Amino acid sequence: MNIGTFSLEAVAAAASADTLRFLTCGSVDDGKSTLIGRLLYDSQLLMEDQVAELERDSLKHGTAGDDIDFALLVDGLEAEREQGITIDVAYRFFATPRRRFIVADTPGHEQYTRNMATGASTADLAILLVDATKGLLTQTRRHALIVSLLGIREVVLAVNKMDLVGFDEATFDDIVADFEAFARQLEFRRITAIPMSARGGDNVTLRSANTPWYRGPVLLEHLETVEIGARADSEPFRMPVQWVCRPDRTFRGFSGLVGSGRASVGDPVVVARSGRESRIARIMIGAEERDHAVAGQSIMLTLADEVDVSRGDVLVAKDARPEVTDQFAAHLIWMDEQHLLPGRQYLLKNGGKVVAAQVTDLKHRLDVNSLEQNAAKVLEMNEVGFANLALGEPIAIDPYAENRETGAFILIDRFTNATVAAGMIAHSLRRASNIHWQALEVDKAARGRLKHQKPTVLWFTGLSGSGKSTVANIVDRKLYARGRHTYMLDGDNIRHGINRDLGFTDADRVENIRRVAEIARLMADAGLIVLVSFISPFQSERDMARRLLPEGEFIEIFVDTPIEICRERDPKGLYARADAGEIKNFTGIDSPYEAPEAPEVHLSTVDETPEALADRIVAFLEAEGRLAGI
Ligand code: ADX
Repeated sequence: MNIGTFSLEAVAAAASADTLRFLTCGSVDDGKSTLIGRLLYDSQLLMEDQVAELERDSLKHGTAGDDIDFALLVDGLEAEREQGITIDVAYRFFATPRRRFIVADTPGHEQYTRNMATGASTADLAILLVDATKGLLTQTRRHALIVSLLGIREVVLAVNKMDLVGFDEATFDDIVADFEAFARQLEFRRITAIPMSARGGDNVTLRSANTPWYRGPVLLEHLETVEIGARADSEPFRMPVQWVCRPDRTFRGFSGLVGSGRASVGDPVVVARSGRESRIARIMIGAEERDHAVAGQSIMLTLADEVDVSRGDVLVAKDARPEVTDQFAAHLIWMDEQHLLPGRQYLLKNGGKVVAAQVTDLKHRLDVNSLEQNAAKVLEMNEVGFANLALGEPIAIDPYAENRETGAFILIDRFTNATVAAGMIAHSLRRASNIHWQALEVDKAARGRLKHQKPTVLWFTGLSGSGKSTVANIVDRKLYARGRHTYMLDGDNIRHGINRDLGFTDADRVENIRRVAEIARLMADAGLIVLVSFISPFQSERDMARRLLPEGEFIEIFVDTPIEICRERDPKGLYARADAGEIKNFTGIDSPYEAPEAPEVHLSTVDETPEALADRIVAFLEAEGRLAGI
C-alpha cells in the first residue's frame, strides 16, 4: 500500500509490466478530483494519517457537508506538487493486490491542454470524465482527440454525477451514443462507458444498487483487469545523450535516459546522425554495474570503440535505426496564447536535441467537434493541426506511432522560452535530401571585392509613415554617388510583385518578412549593399533575418517616429482611413509594433532632417569598414 507524488523519472523507474499508467481528463467541475480521491479511499489505499487529516479538513473547508470531500485529498497533493516541482502533472502511485497504478492527474482548465499532453504521453489508458447533467462538452471532445493523437487506445468514459439525473439509464445511453459517434473517427481500440457517482461511490470500486440496468465492470475492476498493450521497452533501443562524462583520458561515459527499448552489454549500437557503429561495453545505473537497462532508466554507458558522440546525439539499435531528416509532417497541439505563425522560427526539442524549426506549411486544423479538416493560416491556443516542419539541421526521428519517445517533440518560443506546442511526428518528408546547396565558384567575398565594398543588409524598421523609405532613398542615392553597388527593397514595391498574395494579418507579415529576408540574403550574396525598408513589426522576424547573415552584415536601423507624428504626416492618407475603420490590422492601431531592443542605429526623425540621418548611416558604414573592399 503506497500513495504519494513522485518525479517523472521515479515513476518511469517504478513502472513494470504489471503497472497500469492512466490519465484522468475532465473539465473544471465534473468531479475529477473527487473521483480519484474516492478511488483511493474506497480501495482503502490511503494511509491512516492521511485519512484522519482528510476527515479534519473536510469538516473545516469541505463542500460536502459531513461527508468527506475527496477533492480536498487531491487538491492537497496538488499543492504539495506546486512547491518547486517543475513538471505540471502530478503522478500518484497506488496499488491493489492485483495491480500497481500510476495516475497522471492534470488540471482541467481549458488552458491546461499542455499539462494533459505531458501526462498522457506515457499513459496506457485515459479516463474521460463527463458530467451527466451536462453531457458531452467541446472540452471532452478535445480531450478525446488529444488522447487519441497521443496514442492512447484504451478509454474509459466515466459518466459522473449520475445521482443528479436520478441514475437514469436513457441519459447515460444518450451520452454514450454521442461519444461513440464522435469517437468513430478516432483511433481507440476500446471504449468502456461506466455510469458513476464519484461523490456517492457508485460503480467506482463497488457495484451500485442504483444502476441495476448496468452490466459492465465497475471502474476499479476494469482498471485492474484491462489488458496493457506493448510498452516502450519492446520498442527499438533509443537513448538521447544528455551528457558526456570524461573524468580522464581513459574513460568516456554517455549518460541519458533510455527513451525506449532495452540496452544490454554487447549490443551493437549506432550514433543515429553520423551512422558510426560500436558495441555497448558497460552499463551503469548510479554506481552499480549492470548487464542491461530498460526504457525509463537513467544510465551511463561506455562503448567498445572510440566514436564521436556528443550531447544531443542519439544512440540507437543498429538493426532498427531512426530516420535522420530535416523535414517532416506532424500533428501539433498548440498551447500558447500567441498563435502559431507559419514561417516564424521556433526552437524544436526532441530528446536532448534543440534545433531551429519553422512550420513551412500548415496543412489543416481540426474542428474539435466535427473532426473536419479545415484550412487555416494560424493555430490558436488549444487547437490541433497537421503541418510540415523544416529544421535548421537534421535530427534522428521516428514516427510517433512507432516510438513515443523519438516521435514526440515540443516547440519553444525563442523569446519567452515558453513551450508553445506539443508535436507528434507522422512521417519524414524525404524530398529535402535530394536538394543540396550548390557551392559557387565566385563567392560572396569575391563579388564584394569587385565592388569595393562589404556586402551588407541595412534593415530599416518603423511604423508606416515613420520615414523609413525617405531616409533609405537618400542613403541609396549617396552610396550610388560614391560608386557603390546597392539595391533597395521596399515594402510597398515588393507587395506589388512577389508578395502580392500577402495581406496584413500577423501570419502574412511573418511570411512577407521571411521572403524579403531571403531575397536580401541572396542580394548580399551577390555582393550588394541591400537597403530593406519594411515595417517589419516583429522582433522575432527581424532576428530571423539577422541570423541568415554572418555577424556584422546585418544592420538594424530603427526609424523611431512617434505614432502621433506619423498620423500627422500621413503621407498616403492611410491613418485617416484606418482610424475610420476602413483598413483593418493597421500597425500601431489594431496591429502591434515591437520596437527593436538593440538596433545598431537608432534614428529620431523628429529632431533631425532625413538628409542628416542619411549622413549618419553612411558615416556608420564608413566607420564599420563596410565601404572598403576586403
Ligand atoms: S510589414 O508589416 O509586413 O513589414 P510592409 O512594410 O510590407 O509591412 O508594408 C507596409 C506598407 O503597406 C505601409 O507602408 C502602407 O503603405 C501599406 N499598408 C496597407 N495596409 C496596411 C496595414 N494594415 N498596416 C500597415 N501597413 C499597411
